[in-house]
Amino acid sequence: MPDIGYLNGQFSPLKEIRISPDDRGFLFGDGVYEVIRAYHGVPAFWGEHFARLVRSAREIQLTFSLEQTDFQRLLLSGLQQSGYREGKIYIQVTRGVAPREHIFPSKGEPTVFLSFRKMVSLPTEVCQRGVSAITLPDIRWDRCDIKSLNLLPNVLAKQKAQEANAFEAIFVRDGWVNEGATSNIFVVKNGVTITPERNHFVLAGVTQQQVVTLAQAKGQDVQFRPVPISDLFQSDEVFLVGTTIEVLPVIQVNGQPIRDGKPGPITTALQQQFATHVSGLTLS
Ligand SMILES: Cc1ncc(COP(=O)(O)O)c(C=O)c1O
Repeated sequence: MPDIGYLNGQFSPLKEIRISPDDRGFLFGDGVYEVIRAYHGVPAFWGEHFARLVRSAREIQLTFSLEQTDFQRLLLSGLQQSGYREGKIYIQVTRGVAPREHIFPSKGEPTVFLSFRKMVSLPTEVCQRGVSAITLPDIRWDRCDIKSLNLLPNVLAKQKAQEANAFEAIFVRDGWVNEGATSNIFVVKNGVTITPERNHFVLAGVTQQQVVTLAQAKGQDVQFRPVPISDLFQSDEVFLVGTTIEVLPVIQVNGQPIRDGKPGPITTALQQQFATHVSGLTLS
């Protein structure tokens, strides 16, 4: 079965979909997006992703008319048409098609686009062994709480990471660790699991919240609080979380091993808890 796309009311094979060169998403990155992972045909945490999409759109004064129930129907229909049980769904909403002019167009509809692709997960040995990361100055704007289509700093950071043979770039601003270019970050220090507080420099991650809830359910001490860069190197464990990477141990930062350079016990336990949690998700 093919990758499926949905554009403004219509499903088609993804490769047949055409977006206008005047789309403001293309011209200005004037839009917002989400990515949802489907496990065994179930779009995971879709309500949370929808809520964040609506919030992101509202924060950039972009109105689109899609009710939560219609959104769920779209997700399920696209998945069914694609035939993918393990899927990756991108949702992009832009301020629509209009002649190039920075000011919002006075009329016109937003573009609502979804793509349904097969999920290709990281190899198991990478998830078990852990990955390397580098730190980079956070050159992004100060509304990183909005999941905007403007990803140029993230693209440049991820490229730098790859050139350094690392998986992720961790953004640091004024000595404080914010998040990865495509992930949220946790550190574990003296038995406390810490993740940077959600603010204008840190996306409120859906996976981050799930992991916090899972850890708390096991009685762990979890704190949302600022993480100084020194904590990154002096912590017992570091891990990344995100929709497509789930829970991923970091064993080295800037070439320096985290503790003994092996995934720690809290990370490994959370990795397993998360896997169990998503394997039990049902349509609701
Ligand atoms: C900058 C950034 N932070 C955090 C995340 C993790 O968010 P989520 O768990 O909702 O996928 C992502 C994922 O796309 C991201 O791009």
